[in-house]
Amino acid sequence: MKKRVLVTGGTKGIGLEVAKMMLDLDYQVIVAGRNFSNFPLKDNTDVEMIEVDLSNLEALPTFISKVGDIDVLINNAGYMQPKYKYDNYPEEEKEKLMNVDLHTPVELMNAFSVSMKKKKYGRIVNTASIAGQIGHPDVWYGIAKAGLINATKSYAKCLGADGIVVNCVAPSAAETDMQKDNDEARKKAFKAAVVTNRFAEPEEIAKPIVWLATECPEYINGITIDINNTSYAR
Ligand SMILES: NC(=O)c1ccc[n+]([C@@H]2O[C@H](COP(=O)([O-])OP(=O)(O)OC[C@H]3O[C@@H](n4cnc5c(N)ncnc54)[C@H](OP(=O)(O)O)[C@@H]3O)[C@@H](O)[C@H]2O)c1
Repeated sequence: MKKRVLVTGGTKGIGLEVAKMMLDLDYQVIVAGRNFSNFPLKDNTDVEMIEVDLSNLEALPTFISKVGDIDVLINNAGYMQPKYKYDNYPEEEKEKLMNVDLHTPVELMNAFSVSMKKKKYGRIVNTASIAGQIGHPDVWYGIAKAGLINATKSYAKCLGADGIVVNCVAPSAAETDMQKDNDEARKKAFKAAVVTNRFAEPEEIAKPIVWLATECPEYINGITIDINNTSYAR
């Protein structure tokens, strides 16, 4: 039987590249997102599509039961909204963002680790961001991603003894739809901060995610892989 992976936010961008690479590795791929209208893997029989708004915590129990047992969880869905400043952030928008970028990924780790523990096998990869390390104009985005990096460490410690490996990636700017939310000055500053003067391609983020989800030794647990082309060398 094929191993099963859930990729949240796999409809486009980095998540879509992860989904394609996991198909190449012969996984059954479950993709969660809100909009499948341009999803190129629609007709692939190894792909299951689940429409869900991950900002709605009340939708999670139904979503989780639709997904069923999985071997690998890729917590990738996320977004930012730098148009809201720290001192003028609508409460409802803050709550939605914190749900998608932090609360939901943690709840999905809680839910899917139950069957992983029984199998004594599981892989979880969280997509954080350099924003969680150095801060961000959308302060709540940075706070959520910092929380996800921290949750990665905590859950690796909680679940590692049961054969579950939990790791994280922290990319800097990548060439996806997310860039439409950055203004030109910020994009220019980003390019100036890296040595190649370009954004990452989504495949360059997806590859380490897939490695963490598959081949990575279990002794590598609780880490964050920086994917930032020297812009936050540490
Ligand atoms: N691109 C970058 O520069 C960059 C840098 C660092 C970290 N990241 C992180 O990488 C991850 C992927 O981002 P991306 O760059 O690939 O952006 P993207 O192309 O905009 O894709 C975002 C994905 O998240 C899904 N998503 C967003 N809100 C959702 C919601 N409420 N419910 C369900 N799904 C939702 C979207 O699905 P639908 O549109 O179908 O709802 C889409 O599949 C995010 O966590 C992001 O924070 C990106």
